[in-house]
Order: sequence, then C-alpha cells, then structure tokens
Amino acid sequence: MPKRIQKPPRHWRKEIKCILISQEQLARRVHALARQIEKDFAGRDLVIVALLNGTVVFLADLLRRLSLPLRLDFIGVSSYGGGTESAELVFTKELRLDVSGRDVLLVDDILDTGKTLSQVKVKLRKLRPRRMKICVLLDKPSRRVEPVSAHYVGFVIPNHFVVGYGLDYAERYRNLPFVGVLRPEMFKNPDFIPLLSQKKRLLLQGVKNTLESGHPG
Ligand code: PRP
Repeated sequence: MPKRIQKPPRHWRKEIKCILISQEQLARRVHALARQIEKDFAGRDLVIVALLNGTVVFLADLLRRLSLPLRLDFIGVSSYGGGTESAELVFTKELRLDVSGRDVLLVDDILDTGKTLSQVKVKLRKLRPRRMKICVLLDKPSRRVEPVSAHYVGFVIPNHFVVGYGLDYAERYRNLPFVGVLRPEMFKNPDFIPLLSQKKRLLLQGVKNTLESGHPG
C-alpha cells in the first residue's frame, strides 16, 4: 500500500478525501506487472479475459504495456442479484473466444470479498483452459470471504471506499486518473444512494463499520 497520502486536485476535493494511489504510482506498477506477465506467458497462446466494467481503465493501460501476442475477450458480470449477499452473480456478457487448451489471464480491477472471481473461475474452468492466472489492480484481503487469491496484484489496500481508475460509486468517478478515497459524506448523498447496487451497499456498510472501529484493515 502506498504510504504517502496526497490531496486530490481542487475540483475533486469536495468528493474525494485523498489520493490513495497516484497516476505515477499506477503507471509504474502497471509497467512492472506487464513485465512480469510477459515473462510468465512468453511463447504461450494467451487469452486475456477481463471483467466488465470496472477493469476498463486498468486493462487499457496494461494491454498497451504488453508486447506479446494475445487475444482479448470480456465477461460481463453484474452485482449480486436478489438483494442478498450470498446470491449468485448475473452474467450479462458471455465469453466468445474459445479458451480450451489456452493460457488465460483473468483481469479485474479489485479483489474484495472474492465472490465474483471465485464464481468466474468456476465458470472458466469448465471451458478447460490449459492454465488460468488472475491479475487484479487492487486487493483488499481484509474483506475476503471466499478463499481466492490473485497471482498478480497491483496494490494491497486497506478497507477504504476507493474510486477512480475504473472504480465507481453509483457509476461515478470511473474517470479519475488516480485511485482516491471517497469522502464519507458522499455515502449519504441522496442523488447517488438509489443508484447503488446491493453489492456496493454492503461494501459501504463494511467501510462504515471499519471507520467506526478505527481500523481500516
Ligand atoms: C466490482 C469489481 C469486482 C468485484 C469485486 O464489481 O469490478 O468485479 O466488485 O468484488 P468481490 O470480490 O466482493 O466480488 P462491481 O459489481 O462493483 O461492478 P463494476 O465492475 O461494473 O464496477
């Protein structure tokens, strides 16, 4: 986790408390991840499978740093349906490429409870890839419910509500060029609350509990 806390640009300060990971830190880390991935997948038939939507910014930067042959496809996953924490994922876009016998790199923006990636892993395994590795930009181990881990991790972070660089709050803030911590005042914003998915509501509750306990993880 980056140690130095920086202020966001003035126009974001009402909503974003601080920059957790700066543009420069992101660029350096993405570059390092790409070097590692290139080394591990050299000479293989690589298919990158990215999860929509949060991964798009990280993915776009990572892809442009990878100088090995690869193919790209997406899986669409929506937040837990049914309004309960244990409900199944809803797949909104299926994979089109054939991954059987191929090397798959599953890319996501954040590994939180692990529910998403554990279910996506089960789904992909049925397609019989030769091997499957997971790459995430952010890892929040303190929130883990399912025993899933990533082979490539950009940053391990505490239990803050983070937005930017693809990550959203009520579909906002994905375009921030840095990863920032949302101000707790925003948790109550009446314009945003009706737009929150059940999953985001649960995450918000978890972050509130953590703030009250004074231990962000
Ligand atoms: C986010 C993120 C991961 C998932 C991680 O998706 O993109 O896929 O949550 O959470 P988990 O480990 O607790 O399952 P979200 O449903 O917020 O959708 P998005 O990708 O469209 O932002």
